[in-house]
Amino acid sequence: MSQTAKTRVLTGINTTGTPHLGNYVGAIKPAIEASQDSNVQSFYFLADYHSLIKCQDPKRVQQSRLEIAATWLALGLDTDNAIFYRQSDIQEIPELMWMLSCVCAKGLMNRAHAYKAAVAENEEAENQDPDKGITMGLFGYPVLMAADILMFNANKVPVGRDQIQHIEMARDIAGRFNHLYKGQHFTLPEAVVDDKVQLLNGLDGRKMSKSYDNTIPLFVSEKKLQKLVRKIKTNSLEPGEPKDPDTCTLYQIYSAFATAEETASLREQYANGIGWGAAKDQVFEYLNAHLSAPREHYNALMEDPAHIEAVLQKGAERAREEAAVTMDRLRAAVGLGRFV
Ligand code: TRP
Repeated sequence: MSQTAKTRVLTGINTTGTPHLGNYVGAIKPAIEASQDSNVQSFYFLADYHSLIKCQDPKRVQQSRLEIAATWLALGLDTDNAIFYRQSDIQEIPELMWMLSCVCAKGLMNRAHAYKAAVAENEEAENQDPDKGITMGLFGYPVLMAADILMFNANKVPVGRDQIQHIEMARDIAGRFNHLYKGQHFTLPEAVVDDKVQLLNGLDGRKMSKSYDNTIPLFVSEKKLQKLVRKIKTNSLEPGEPKDPDTCTLYQIYSAFATAEETASLREQYANGIGWGAAKDQVFEYLNAHLSAPREHYNALMEDPAHIEAVLQKGAERAREEAAVTMDRLRAAVGLGRFV
């Protein structure tokens, strides 16, 4: 295989919620840039099996997958370079998950943050059953994630801080499997957390997050975008009074998109007492100018699901070519190979 020499970077994209400026700056943009590096083979996939843990509304699951795929394509993901696929198209993944489940200590899963948080919530609510409402999907989630990663022998897994534990669990499970079945069946993956990547604040000044309902979605209409930018929380300083850019969400959002010179210029305008209304107009104009082309592309893609389907099928084909070979090898390793 010609690809084996390249570093493999793999990450899963959650298919819940509507992508917002914070997702773009924190995850999508760096991933798309990284995928252009020809020394790297990147694997990006829609983690849609994962989405069933939180959402049992088929229409929402379906719509969200389409929107997220369209978003990545509209923002310029190069799908010739990166292998871009839907997790649920790779049926070898749940098969691998089962094999991994059979070597994964239950106690390891007891320590997973998401599970522990759910138990803590039950205890706080004084529910008799600490596992109330917790499915096997939520409990086993880190094993599914391990299967995603180990299937393609990823070296590096770019993730947010909250996911580091899951990568460590994937390493643990891989190590255990390698030990039990005496061989280097899996590469041990490493989490990559980029400290340079910016975390954006939202409309109310807290971290931009769908759980705070303070986001600016990437592809809202021009009008809606303007409305949202106007809602960004500022303070009561009047025009003419100098303003502090470093504690200002509006400035922070601008600087995540603008060049260093453009950002320096806004900084100067803050010092010179630009009014909030004028500053907001400027930020809106800037964002709108930069988002209007991908927004159009996005809208066109959403009208053409057959195109998106074809792109994902192509990605799945590339991914499965390898997954099928890997699973044959693993089946043989655990004693589930063919008789002849
Ligand atoms: N759980 C990850 C998140 O919430 C998404 C994900 C699923 C993932 N499978 C993965 C990330 C494999 C990296 C590798 O962000």
